[in-house]
This record gives sequence, structure tokens and C-alpha cells, in this order.
Amino acid sequence: MSDTTEYLARVPLLQTMGARELERLAERTRRVHFRSGADIVEIGAPGRSLYLVLDGLVQVIYPSPSVDFELARLGVGDFFGEMALLNDKPRSATVRALTPVDVLALDKEDFRRVVSDTPGLALELLAALSVRIRNADEQISTLSDQAVRDPLTGLLNRRAFQERLHEEVDRARRYDSRFALVIMDVDHFKGINDTLGHIVGDEVLTWVGRILQEHTRAADSPFRIGGEEFAVLCPASDATMAGHAARRLIAVVGEAKPPTEHDLRVTMSAGYAACPEHGLSFEDVYGTADGALFRAKGLGRNQVGDPAAAT
Ligand code: CMP
Repeated sequence: MSDTTEYLARVPLLQTMGARELERLAERTRRVHFRSGADIVEIGAPGRSLYLVLDGLVQVIYPSPSVDFELARLGVGDFFGEMALLNDKPRSATVRALTPVDVLALDKEDFRRVVSDTPGLALELLAALSVRIRNADEQISTLSDQAVRDPLTGLLNRRAFQERLHEEVDRARRYDSRFALVIMDVDHFKGINDTLGHIVGDEVLTWVGRILQEHTRAADSPFRIGGEEFAVLCPASDATMAGHAARRLIAVVGEAKPPTEHDLRVTMSAGYAACPEHGLSFEDVYGTADGALFRAKGLGRNQVGDPAAAT
């Protein structure tokens, strides 16, 4: 048995093939060496061969203008380059050698022939592809979560807030449902940052984020919508309920002490609005709550502004 056949016999993808079939396959492959850093497969290029990793480590990359995104790392016994050969489309990703790499290359026609002649291999290929699809789904879900989450507090970010507020307004219009919005701002936050530093400032924001998560209903969604600005969307709520929620949150923040070594007291101001009471558009609801917050600040902070007076 040749070295190549012995290697092929250990490749998981080929485990259902018999010795004769493996020998025939070995004759069809050629060994190719790539130096570390070389692109073995380039995204967008036509696909001509499948590669089996004999030695070394490769990285599957989806290149984007800002950063190369790593889809997977593959090592000895793994394969790549199958997709373009199966679907006749350009290469779906770039595969780069992370170390010096030796591969066995199998040309497209030979690969397709062996797949159609060997049901066991086709099944192994499907199993491997389904693992790749599942991993890719998980990566997409992690990335889309990162896109809508504020990394400091773990709360949903401004982008998510705008989307959700638009959705709530649409739902209220379509189904006659109601919701309320509370907007809150940490009082004199710039002073905390300037006198105690950004690390303490960040600790205060994280602490506020935690309070919003712990002291809102399960149905409510807290967001960090700006530097020291937070919002809570309260489905199925009216203005009275939002006023209660805002006063309760302000009281919790005012009575608790942030977990810093400094003798620091933090207060917040809030405004709120409800849909449809204060309007049936994004601008009406957000503008009313923001106006009420502005009034709370003007009246001395550490309080909840009146939305009726703000309109
Ligand atoms: P192909 O599209 O021919 O060329 C790029 C190769 O990268 C692709 O075939 C697969 O072999 C591999 N690849 C693409 N996406 C993934 C992924 N999510 N996980 C593992 N390998 C992948």
C-alpha cells in the first residue's frame, strides 16, 4: 500500500471506501506544497480541485473590507474546496495556509466521479457539510447579536432600539395595541468621567444597565441608546404605567450605591411617553419622551418629566 493510500485510509471523509477504491483514488491525486501565508483557494475564483490536508493547518476566511472573518480552521485529515466543485459556483471563501501546508489535490472531474460512484462517500460529505452549515449558522447568530448589543452593559444598543420602536409603532397602528417608552439619562455624567475617570464612568454605566435589567418586567426591553442615555420599551403599557416604571427606576438608582471604591451617589432623570396617547409615530413617541426628559433636567434633575407638559 502506498503512503498516499495509507493516508487516504485515515481520512474520515473516505472511511467507507475499500482498499482497491482508495488505491485508485490515490493514483488520481497529486501532492502540492504551500508556504505559510499562501492562499490555496481564493474567494471568487473558479474551482478546479478538492484538497485533502496531509500536513499543516489552514484557515478558511471570509474577507470583508474592514476585517477578515475566520469561518474555520482545518488540519490533517480535513478537506476543503468541495463547494465550488459541487455547485459550479466560484469559491465561497479564501483558504490560507497558517503553517507550511501539504495537500493532496483531486481534480473536479475525478472528485465528482468518485462521489457519484461511492454512496458512502456522498453520505460522509453531506454529514460534513451539515456540520459546516450548522457552524456557519451559529456564527451568523453570534455576529447579528453583536451588531445589536452594547459591549459595555450587554444591553441592546441604539440600532436595536430604533428598530424595536418602529416595530412597536407599526404594531400599535395595525392592531390597535399600545406600548410605552421611558428614556433615562445619568445626571452630571460628564462630571463623573472628568473627576473620577472613564473607568469609574464605565462602572457606573454597567451598574445602571444591571439595574435596568433587574428592575423591569420580563416583557420590557432596556437599551443603552447613547453615552449615558438609556431607554426601556414597555409593551402593552400606557402612560400611567410608564410613569410608575420611570419613578421606580429613578428611586432604585438614587437609593443604591454604585459598586466603586469612591463615595459616589448617582441620580438619573427620566421622561416617558405612550402610544397611542402621545401619538402614533416614531417621532411623536420618542419626541414626547425626550421632551419630558429635557423638562426633568431643567427642573433640577433626579426626577421624571411630565409628558403632557412637554407636548
Ligand atoms: P469552496 O467554496 O470550493 O472554496 C472555499 C472553501 O472553504 C469551501 O469550498 C469549503 O471547503 C470551505 N468553507 C467555506 N465555508 C466554510 C465553513 N463555514 N466552514 C468550513 N469550511 C468552509
